[in-house]
Amino acid sequence: MNQEKPTQHRAVMVSEVIEALKPRSGGRYLDATLGGATHSQELLKLSAPDGRVLSLDVDLTALGRAREMQPAYGDRWKIVESNFRHLKQAAQESGWMPFDGILFDLGLSSDELADPSKGLSFQIDGPLDMRLGPKANDDGLTAYDIVNRWTERELIDLIRTYGEDRFAPKIAQAIVMRRREKKFETTLDLAECIKDAVPLKHLKIHPATKTFQALRMAVNDELATLRLALETADEILADGGTIVVISFHSLEDRIVKQTFKKLVGYEITKKPICPTEAEVKNNSRARSAKMRAARKNTTKNNLCHEPTPLL
Ligand SMILES: C[S@@+](CC[C@H](N)C(=O)[O-])C[C@H]1O[C@@H](n2cnc3c(N)ncnc32)[C@H](O)[C@@H]1O
Repeated sequence: MNQEKPTQHRAVMVSEVIEALKPRSGGRYLDATLGGATHSQELLKLSAPDGRVLSLDVDLTALGRAREMQPAYGDRWKIVESNFRHLKQAAQESGWMPFDGILFDLGLSSDELADPSKGLSFQIDGPLDMRLGPKANDDGLTAYDIVNRWTERELIDLIRTYGEDRFAPKIAQAIVMRRREKKFETTLDLAECIKDAVPLKHLKIHPATKTFQALRMAVNDELATLRLALETADEILADGGTIVVISFHSLEDRIVKQTFKKLVGYEITKKPICPTEAEVKNNSRARSAKMRAARKNTTKNNLCHEPTPLL
């Protein structure tokens, strides 16, 4: 019996991911960000009859939904609740090392954004939580803790750095003033306070957009987790295997670019690959997506010639 609602998430750059990973029969693939499972299922279909896919996520709803689809693929598909911070452990426990391809499709899914209990949206009322799942962080930090306890200085730094919001000082000041009277409990409560704090003129997006993004990035420790995962991905990748990362934020893309550059014996995409205009038109979430890929190629003497372009 189906218990989970079908996914509303539309995966981005599916054909570009497939072109980079080139799934084949017998191949082993690790999808570090299962979400609505479109990428995982494409990999399963294109690596039939015996390719294997290990899919990770921290979101219990995403995992539950995928487990309902899992019987169609039998023991070729393992679905595991795991933070990709512990990528190597999950890979080792699967018994499928080394992998021919690893995919990270970062951020959150449309299903998570629409789930009031996660408290990720400034348009839907919910608790100030923002953890994507029970294993989203190691210290149990929530958005409630940040907005009600962090100092004004810490809030400014957070909103400025992760949200790249020029109104960070105004927003932080408003948060600190308001919580002296009453602690923040819900997302709409916080969104209203931010809306009142910033001049609305010239703003093309909701004034709380960047603060909510910054809070989510801090709660889920997104940048440090990404850096750690990319550094260990090399250890579980087969020679000739490919790592693909789709990012949605310039800070994420910078980490991907810098970490890929440090990899020895890899060909990397020189520039990020962006979605086609047609995709952006059909799926506005794709507009800020950037894809980079790195292929392990330790048998070739990379010093003798320019790396060949990946895509
Ligand atoms: C953009 S969605 C992925 C969509 C997916 N590629 C698809 O085909 O539908 C990102 C997913 O990554 C998960 N996620 C984010 N950070 C994670 C982490 N550190 N470890 C594991 N999963 C994570 C989120 O819970 C979310 O389900």
